Amino acid sequence: MSLPPGFLDELRTRSSLAQVVGRKLTWDAKKSNPGKGDYWAPCPFHQEKTASFHLDDRKGFYYCFGCHAKGDALSFIRETENVGFMEAVEILAREAGMTMPARDPQAQQKSDERALLIDVMEQAAQFFALQLKTTTASKARDYLAARGLSEAMIAQFGIGFAPDSRTSLFQHLSGKSVPVELIVKAGLAIKPDDGGAPFDRFRGRIIFPIRDLRGRCIAFGGRSMDPNARAKYLNSPETPLFDKGRSLYNHAPAREAAGKANSLIVAEGYMDVIALAQAGFAHAVAPLGTAITEDQLQMLWRLSPEPVISLDGDTAGLRAAMQLIDLALPLLQPGRSLRFCLLPQGLDPDDLIKSQGAGAMRKLLEGARPMVDLLWQREIEDKVFDSPERRAALDASLKAALGKINDSSIRNHYAAALRELRAELFKPKNARKSGFTPWKKNAPELATAGAKASLLAQSATPDPEERMREAVILAICLRHPEIIAEFETALEKLTFRTPGYDKLRDAALNAAAQQASDTQAVAKTPEIPRDTVEKLMALRHVKIAPALQAGAERETVEMALAEELAKLTANRGARAEIDEAMQDMAGLVDEGLTWRLSQAAQARRKAARSSLPEDGKDGDEGENLSKHLQNLIDDQIWVKKKR
Ligand code: UTP
Ligand code: MN
Repeated sequence: MSLPPGFLDELRTRSSLAQVVGRKLTWDAKKSNPGKGDYWAPCPFHQEKTASFHLDDRKGFYYCFGCHAKGDALSFIRETENVGFMEAVEILAREAGMTMPARDPQAQQKSDERALLIDVMEQAAQFFALQLKTTTASKARDYLAARGLSEAMIAQFGIGFAPDSRTSLFQHLSGKSVPVELIVKAGLAIKPDDGGAPFDRFRGRIIFPIRDLRGRCIAFGGRSMDPNARAKYLNSPETPLFDKGRSLYNHAPAREAAGKANSLIVAEGYMDVIALAQAGFAHAVAPLGTAITEDQLQMLWRLSPEPVISLDGDTAGLRAAMQLIDLALPLLQPGRSLRFCLLPQGLDPDDLIKSQGAGAMRKLLEGARPMVDLLWQREIEDKVFDSPERRAALDASLKAALGKINDSSIRNHYAAALRELRAELFKPKNARKSGFTPWKKNAPELATAGAKASLLAQSATPDPEERMREAVILAICLRHPEIIAEFETALEKLTFRTPGYDKLRDAALNAAAQQASDTQAVAKTPEIPRDTVEKLMALRHVKIAPALQAGAERETVEMALAEELAKLTANRGARAEIDEAMQDMAGLVDEGLTWRLSQAAQARRKAARSSLPEDGKDGDEGENLSKHLQNLIDDQIWVKKKR
């Protein structure tokens, strides 16, 4: 329906946003300044104790500095009452004492139809609940009892039973004069294409009513009691009331409980949610038989800044988690993320609570891992990083994941966390701290990756392995000056990291050039401190090196020197490669920042150009801000200037 011109403006000027919002929350008296139309409160859209929610009554606009929720009176009503735009207009108009213009008949019809459908669904829910109490439902009651469901939970969740008959619900509703079309449209009965009589969708199943945020029944889930049933669960089809990607099981009760518990659990199924509630975790929801959608993710974040995704510890569960990560990465905001609680293989929360009790569940929830851990696991799992190409592939995939994060500050922190995990992985095995515990109990791939990567050193100062190789190379040169000529170029190019070794190498090269044929000659070189050569020769790994044993053949010595030189060079090549990749990752962060700033500038420019009267006032300010942002971008102030 179209509203007459000026209607919305009139509505906005006549109503006070502070009044509309003020009914839903308590203002922070210290921070607020009502005289100036300036109000602050804890945000109604996310859980918090501080007052980050700001409202400007004069502009009729709110913004939360915590979760970035923003909008005007209409959007506030839409969000909090879970209604559509026109319904919100109606609510606000009623409050402001404005008469709604005559409705467009089509829209009127649609909204009337919804009201009728909701009524039919409610009647069906009551029918199912009653059926569970009849004698024909004794098997169903036994089934629920066997699954450990208490009477209290059956009542609280309104669990019911659909009799195993073709038309019991259909007849019941028809008897109450509900039109056939409505029963079919509500998804309760199926009308065969061949024109035959409609029959009940749910037959011989335990029924779980699905309700929206306002507690209205919008769909049903039906579980077969037959373990061999073709479909274990059967859900309502999409109807004018039910959009399964925009609904959550147990949404309204969980919203209240999440506020109290300061947390939210996301399980996979109906029975998990109910078992969790029975075990004292009332703050649980579940998607409805599909992978979590972006809409559902946003809904979850309205309930809690960091929902805990609890998943089956099987491959399907892990795959679901990985998909969810990809969905969530671009949507992350400061303080807004996900945690993952991975259950033992093959168990869901319902199974776990039944077999190990609520305490075990609580423990697992407390140990839920941050998303970055799971992302890391995904990137390295089942992989061995024993070649530069493979390590480069890891860098590419990490970069790609980072690139999905829109929020620059979060991207920075992810880059830092991944860098740390990466350094840990590429550290020599024995130097690895136990700080990173692999996700799975047995994670051979981690061990392999670490072992295979043990040649890679990380720190800027030489690690023990590097020192060792440097010492052996020098010792061979000193003990066998006769082979130096062959390796002259490699030796000249080599930079020793151990202090004093460069000078020793130079002295050895000189001595060899002058045909001085022993270590004494080198030791007497004036630049070399007296005991340097002795100390070098006394090192344990020098003493035991086969090439340095008395009587070692020239061929053995040559091969040993060649090998040490090659390994040292490879080691350093790998390190250079890592450094480069690190810089790449850092560079990515900068690119992201450039992008974000340019987006912000564009948005400001658009706002300044827009002809909306509210924005007109801010025109100059907006223009200045866009210019300022553009300058920042042009100067690339965030790029560290090379000195
Ligand atoms: P599961 O197969 O993990 O079942 O499906 P469950 O929740 O553990 O159920 P119980 O314990 O065997 O009773 C998880 C969810 O996937 C949807 C349902 O929403 C279910 O709760 N599902 C599953 C379907 O929609 N249809 C199916 O056939 C199976
Ligand atoms: Mn289960």
